[in-house]
Amino acid sequence: MIAFPFRYECRRNRYKAVAGYRRAIIRSPKNEAPYTKNEMTYVVTEDCIKCKYMDCVEVCPVDCFYEGDNMLVIHPDECIDCGVCEPECPPEAIVPDSNAKAEKWLKVNADFAVKWPNITRKGTPPADADQHKGEADKYQKYFSAEPGKGE
Ligand code: SF4
Ligand code: F3S
Repeated sequence: MIAFPFRYECRRNRYKAVAGYRRAIIRSPKNEAPYTKNEMTYVVTEDCIKCKYMDCVEVCPVDCFYEGDNMLVIHPDECIDCGVCEPECPPEAIVPDSNAKAEKWLKVNADFAVKWPNITRKGTPPADADQHKGEADKYQKYFSAEPGKGE
């Protein structure tokens, strides 16, 4: 199909333009008031831990994923709520913040998105990623605050 990539590219460019505008406002030195985001965001939950497939970063139009040692997070002020990443994640680790499951992870995402490096390209998932898919209590068992390599 020729039409789909073209349409997708248009949508991606529009998303990037919106995100660039938002970032300009957020980061402007004249904007002294603290920025508070009212829109929805998507968050990465503990289902990502030790799986880290990174399919999500390939589709994000605004490159708002940040890499920890064994999971990724989404920067809530940069996410434009497009929802494109949600169905791409094999262990279904990404949810909108309207999901009851998201509340606990919004803080983790916000806290570590400013500490970990940005990631925009899919790397190699852990060799044992499939073994940890769907495992319970991964945050307690394996969470690492160490940053990933980023790009
Ligand atoms: Fe990126 Fe997902 Fe947010 Fe869309 S919903 S901007 S793909 S993190
Ligand atoms: Fe994690 Fe799913 Fe992305 S496992 S790295 S949120 S594709």
